[in-house]
Order: sequence, then C-alpha cells, then structure tokens
Amino acid sequence: MSLETLKVVAYIWLGMAIIVHIVMFFVTAPFGRHTSEKWGISINNKLAWILMEAPSLLIMAYFLLQGTNSFRSYVWILFALWLIHYINRTFIYPLRIKATPKKMPLTIAASGAFFNLINAGLNGYYLAELAPVADYKAEWLTSNSFIIGAVMFVGGMMINWKADTILINLRKPGETGYKIPKGFLFDYISSPNLFGEIIEWSGFALMAFNLPALTFMVWTFANLVPRAKNHHDWYVRHFDNYPKERKIVFPFIF
Ligand SMILES: NC(=O)c1ccc[n+]([C@@H]2O[C@H](COP(=O)([O-])OP(=O)(O)OC[C@H]3O[C@@H](n4cnc5c(N)ncnc54)[C@H](OP(=O)(O)O)[C@@H]3O)[C@@H](O)[C@H]2O)c1
Repeated sequence: MSLETLKVVAYIWLGMAIIVHIVMFFVTAPFGRHTSEKWGISINNKLAWILMEAPSLLIMAYFLLQGTNSFRSYVWILFALWLIHYINRTFIYPLRIKATPKKMPLTIAASGAFFNLINAGLNGYYLAELAPVADYKAEWLTSNSFIIGAVMFVGGMMINWKADTILINLRKPGETGYKIPKGFLFDYISSPNLFGEIIEWSGFALMAFNLPALTFMVWTFANLVPRAKNHHDWYVRHFDNYPKERKIVFPFIF
C-alpha cells in the first residue's frame, strides 16, 4: 500500500469514528453491565475479550518482527508500548475479571475484532513500512512530543490499570452485582479506567506524531466518552445515593 492510499483509508477511518461517536450516544454498546440478549448469539465474556483484542496484539507483533524498518530506528519503542498494553488487554485483563453469567454478543466481539484489525493494520504498516526512518532517530527521544507523550502514555496506562483493578476487586468471590466504587479518581469521575485509556492513546499519538496514531486517539475518544456516559447514567439510575458531584470521565469538566 502506498502512503497516499494509507492516507485515504485513514481519513475514511476518521470519518467512521465521528459517525460511531454520534451513534453511540443513542445506542448503548451491549457488553458488561449493558449486555443484552436482543443482539443475538452471545459468547463467554472472557473468551470474547481475548478474541476481540488478539488481532491488535498479533498484527503489531507481526509488523515489529517482519517489518522492513522496525529496527532501523527507535520506532520499536512504539511497538513495545503497544504490545505491553495489548498483552494486558488480550490475556491479563480477561483472566482477571470476575467470572459472571454475563455473555457478550458475538456482533460486539466481531466489531471489536474488526476495529482492532484496521487500527493495528494502519498503525503497524505505517510504522514498519511507510514512516520516514529519520522521524524516529535518537533526536526523537529528546523531543518534547516524545517526552510529554511518553509521560501521558505511562501515566494513562497506570490510571487505567489501577482503576480496572479497583473495579475488579469490588466483587468478593462468587458475587456478581455492582457497588459504588470509591477512592482514587472515582471520587471525581465515574470511569477513571476509560479516562486513563484516553490519556494513554493521546500520549501515544503525541509520541508517534503521525496520522494513524491520530486516528487511534480519535477512535478511543469517540468510543469511550459515550461508554463512560452510559456507565455514569447507569450508576445514577441504579443507586439513589450515587455521589452527585461525580463527573462522567474528565475530572471537573464532563
Ligand atoms: N480502547 C478502546 O476503545 C476500549 C474500548 C472498550 C474498552 N476498553 C477498555 O477495556 C476495559 C473495560 O472496559 P469496560 O467499559 O467494559 O469497563 P467497566 O464497565 O468499567 O468494567 C470493568 C470490570 O469491572 C467490573 N465492574 C465495573 N464496574 C463495577 C462495579 N461498580 N461493581 C462491580 N464490578 C464492576 C466489570 O464487570 P461487568 O463486566 O460484569 O460489568 C468488569 O469486569 C477498560 O480498561 C477500558 O479502558 C477500551
């Protein structure tokens, strides 16, 4: 694929993110607490997470190992950060979440896998084959965009992991219901895990400073802001004593 073709695909992909963002304020993605039997065949929740996220891990690992330019500059750092995130999301996270009778509709798992296929395909192919090698030489490591982006990526990942851990530990063994999470950033927002993920991929986009990474940042925002709103509205509906001052996903703002 030429750079021109990749750019066209990336702009169409960006347009799709905006459409999905708007649709998601009207249609709640039916997984986790919002799961629904109306969406047809459902599969085991843990298995669904693994199948959904594996394409991203495998595609990026492929481009890191087989790509023309993967080790001709420090671009491998971007691959490494991506792989760390997706090793957690594909294997560690699904194995840590508490088993419940909840299932995930196959359509959601398939659309998640499709997203990961395109997202990792665009980012991996660009970094391994099309990005100028000079963009990721030693000077890149001391640039403001690399340093600020790396701090955001690592900070966002830590917030995401810690918030996921707090949520997962709310249930004692055998419990399947929901409780009001407290402490850490939960005192300010309903979904610190989604906030952390948005910061993380915004940091990645700043580090990588290219069009495919920008599309991932926009998709993450487009996907997770409505999901956080769905979570927040769900808490308000289900708990009379849900803290009124708690925002949705951005502390003090939204
Ligand atoms: N990059 C992206 O576009 C993207 C898209 C989607 C998700 N993600 C990431 O995937 C992870 C999961 O997302 P999610 O929206 O499914 O997270 P979530 O609804 O916050 O759930 C996280 C885990 O904690 C449990 N849980 C949540 N709230 C709870 C409560 N109040 N009481 C007891 N248990 C609770 C959930 O159980 P149940 O499953 O039983 O509800 C689930 O196992 C997050 O880290 C998110 O950032 C990323």
